Amino acid sequence: MNADGRTRLNQMPEWTALAKHREELGEVRLRELFAADPGRGTGYTLRVGDLYVDHSKHLVTDDTLRLLRELAVATDVFGLRDAMFRGEKINTTEDRAVLHTALRAARDAVIEVDGENVVPAVHAVLDRMADFAGRVRSGEWTGHTGKRIRNVVNVGIGGSDLGPAMAYEALRAFTDRSLTFRFVSNVDGADLHEATRDLDPAETLFIIASKTFTTIETVTNATSARTWLLNALKDEAAVAKHFVALSTNAEKVADFGIDTANMFEFWDWVGGRYSYDSAIGLSLMIAIGPDRFREMLDGFRIVDEHFRTAPAESNVPLLLGLLGVWYNNFHDAQSHAVLPYSHYLSKFTAYLQQLDMESNGKYVGRDGREVDWQTGPVVWGTPGTNGQHAYYQLIHQGTKLIPADFIGFAEPVAELGDELKAQHDLLMANFFAQTQALAFGKTPDEVRGEGVPEELVPHKTFKGNHPTTTILARELTPSVLGQLVALYEHKVFVQGAVWNIDSFDQWGVELGKVLAKRVEPALTEGADVPGLDASTKALVATYRELRGR
Ligand code: F6P
Repeated sequence: MNADGRTRLNQMPEWTALAKHREELGEVRLRELFAADPGRGTGYTLRVGDLYVDHSKHLVTDDTLRLLRELAVATDVFGLRDAMFRGEKINTTEDRAVLHTALRAARDAVIEVDGENVVPAVHAVLDRMADFAGRVRSGEWTGHTGKRIRNVVNVGIGGSDLGPAMAYEALRAFTDRSLTFRFVSNVDGADLHEATRDLDPAETLFIIASKTFTTIETVTNATSARTWLLNALKDEAAVAKHFVALSTNAEKVADFGIDTANMFEFWDWVGGRYSYDSAIGLSLMIAIGPDRFREMLDGFRIVDEHFRTAPAESNVPLLLGLLGVWYNNFHDAQSHAVLPYSHYLSKFTAYLQQLDMESNGKYVGRDGREVDWQTGPVVWGTPGTNGQHAYYQLIHQGTKLIPADFIGFAEPVAELGDELKAQHDLLMANFFAQTQALAFGKTPDEVRGEGVPEELVPHKTFKGNHPTTTILARELTPSVLGQLVALYEHKVFVQGAVWNIDSFDQWGVELGKVLAKRVEPALTEGADVPGLDASTKALVATYRELRGR
């Protein structure tokens, strides 16, 4: 029994039933599943919004899916979902509501936190962002010297960087190409240097994005950015025209020297990794314009509504979450690959890494007890075709089970010329070929049939049976991007709910921050830091020696 009175996950009859089912299924073969059910290729598919989701190439039967849904019922996934949408404080370790869904709620929706409807404030900020973005895009908002803003540099880290950077890349084809966008996150001075070295300070707007406005990397980079600006413009007053802040912390923003009139706020019920559709998306809104940004929010909302209302059998985030549980907990899979077949989604998996791993990388349950089941997987991947020539070998013939999501689009982006558009079929031929090869492989007899010498047959055999989800949409639009992100947000939610962990805190990142603060004086001044372990002491000494200190 859990401390909260809930039966331990791995003692629930639904869990035991799945373990038994897994044993009985044994080495189920995708070839056999497809041979037994000619309708599988269309039957095991779902749609949400513009997304066509094929889960036929998974090591599951109807019974598996039913048993997984029963586990979701037993773990009250939908109860927690409803509590989230209602604004209850389901982030218990921080005593906060979890309301990223309110960021894309319709203007007339009512969502209350502590008795107050938060939706009007969400739309008020969106309207202010739209006004500001419009003025930057039109040239009405100028820099301190009267020059037009041509460069926008977002300074932030984690959720205050990965989301806008990913979405800017994803929607590049929709951006104002006359503006330059850069994203600075790393406290390594090289990041800011490379982002600014060819920019004119008089034409550059810095967006300082930080939920807390205490994050050392961001505050340090923001301070250096201000110095860079003032060295050129030589007037403190310039800060007001070249710096805006995105934050929940007005006091710290003011302390830093940014006028709070130039601050776009969000709220503690928005987690950093769930925040790029809040004020944190200002750089993206400047890039694609307010209308496209709102289309993206509409896309998020389509999937929110689906997750909130669709029955379990057709609920796509539920399905994806449960399939992850199946492999993570009943097949011992350690990782999950996300492989987009779109160059524009080159940062999508890096974004998902934070979304998933910071949310579900926890070994303590909501009841404060250590879990004795596996929680979040290692999420990894890069655009697919590049991966094919790098790490796909291991997915095909390695010894590990790596479930993977393949994301592709029927149409190339509109602005490609005819010749480049023609390459799209080749890209997508690879997309379809890979999931086919992964699922069905190539038997020794098929290899022999090609006249391969016997000693090479084992090497050229593909066992197949590697599970994949295929997500296909017509085109990568702002709405489709919103749909994809919401899909993964809710997938992560489902898994956290099943594993009984708080997916919305991130205490695991704190210790490193505290230790970095403690070690810094040892590096800079050679200070004797009490309690430093022997390894770190020796490393610090070597570092100082290498730096000639
Ligand atoms: O250290 C992790 C973290 O707190 C993330 O959760 C967050 O997205 C990131 O740091 C940045 O935080 P902030 O937006 O407060 O600067």
